[in-house]
Amino acid sequence: MARFSELLRTKSLDAILADAARGTDHLKRVLGAFDLTLLGIGGVIGAGIFALVGTAAAGDAARPGAGPALVLSFLLTGVACAFCGLCYAEFASLVPISGSAYTYAYATLGELIAWIIGWDLILEYAVGNVAVAVSWSGYFCELLKGFGIEFPRWLATDLRTAIHSPDILHSAPHLFGVPIIFNLPAFSIVTALTVLLVIGIKESARFNGIMVGIKLLVLAFFVVVGLTYVKPANWTPFAPNGWAGVQAGAAVIFFAYIGFDAVSTAAEECRNPTRDMPIGILGSLAICTVIYIVVAAVLTGMIPWNHLNTAEPLSVAMRVVHKNWAAGIVAFGSVVAHTAVLLVFQLGQPRIFFSMSRDGLLPRSFSKVHPRFKTPYVTTILSGAFVALASSMASLDEMADLCNIGTLSAFILVCAGVIVLHYREPLRPRPFKTPLVPLVPLLGIGFCLYLMLGLPTLAWIRFAVWLVVGLGLYYAYGFTHSRLAARSA
Ligand code: ALA
Repeated sequence: MARFSELLRTKSLDAILADAARGTDHLKRVLGAFDLTLLGIGGVIGAGIFALVGTAAAGDAARPGAGPALVLSFLLTGVACAFCGLCYAEFASLVPISGSAYTYAYATLGELIAWIIGWDLILEYAVGNVAVAVSWSGYFCELLKGFGIEFPRWLATDLRTAIHSPDILHSAPHLFGVPIIFNLPAFSIVTALTVLLVIGIKESARFNGIMVGIKLLVLAFFVVVGLTYVKPANWTPFAPNGWAGVQAGAAVIFFAYIGFDAVSTAAEECRNPTRDMPIGILGSLAICTVIYIVVAAVLTGMIPWNHLNTAEPLSVAMRVVHKNWAAGIVAFGSVVAHTAVLLVFQLGQPRIFFSMSRDGLLPRSFSKVHPRFKTPYVTTILSGAFVALASSMASLDEMADLCNIGTLSAFILVCAGVIVLHYREPLRPRPFKTPLVPLVPLLGIGFCLYLMLGLPTLAWIRFAVWLVVGLGLYYAYGFTHSRLAARSA
């Protein structure tokens, strides 16, 4: 049996930094503050604002909608993320290691919690990306439709959706009586991005910069065109489902904010992490919050909130006001925005595995760096394979809920880590200091818990199962292979 004290073993900050400096597996330091801010925006603006915003505003079978009070949902979530972002910024500048929240927890809350965070981060990055890839596929097919190309539906959906749609089931080819349902666009985009990420971080960051430019332009276009069709009458009643709707909307829309923290996974590829990490994290969060609130106000002003439960609410809003050409532009921007999110998340996941492997909690081969491209290619390919396969079969909303609950729990642990570190090492020089500790981290924890409570019961059950499986794996592998354990022995 594991002794309790062994589960709480922490790796000191100095040991973490020394290990990262000593190893032979180094990533290339090429990114600056601007690249990081773009990386943050790249990871944030995607399926949340282009797709899930519809569910948040109109609700669905599992939750009430926020209605026009969607702007409050965005504000609430933005505030929650700001508290957590301040905690992330302190850690990312203090421990510029690619493991992000996982590494911060290892230094403060102990190995077991670090493992749990690492395990939760799979929900954020890999499972989150499954949701984004599925949503990408939907918008991609819409875009093709604009060019008169009808993509076979059985080749761009999941089995659950197909079962509820007899047309799709009948049109699918059958093998031994079983219908073949596969999401080919989702599978293909993830595979293509994985290849790009193996080739190099700078190339990937450059590609990301172009996509961020396009998505910002398209959202600005939506606001400018949409503004002329806003009818203030659509904003009343402002909160048709009361505060419960605002809370449920905030819990869904949290997905739209996820990604600012992904900046921290590029810490080992950043030229001046102590200065640039806080700029990248907080800058991208602030920019996206403003954009979201403006887009939400225009969207709910354009069409009645209860017409928004669709997978492509921004395009639908344009079509409702008879601007079909504008709907096409929005669909194009959405495909680009989704692609950037996919890229940033596919970049983040392998870097967390990379750090966990360096600590012995995952097999050693996971921290191999490509001799020529200097990227963590083993974990990049493994993550790519997992996301590509899962997204060829999964559905959007379920994956988004699971991603939200996992990410919120990781945020809570990061906030807790800041409090622990302030008490344990009050004098350590901090390039960026979270203000008003413990108040700000405690507010971060409180807000995240509140958002978690707005998620459906099924998401909680899946999350519990996920944690149990993770603990089993830790016990079976990480606990005995931990390099920290070997060192103390
Ligand atoms: N924030 C990311 C998105 O909305 C995950 O797609």
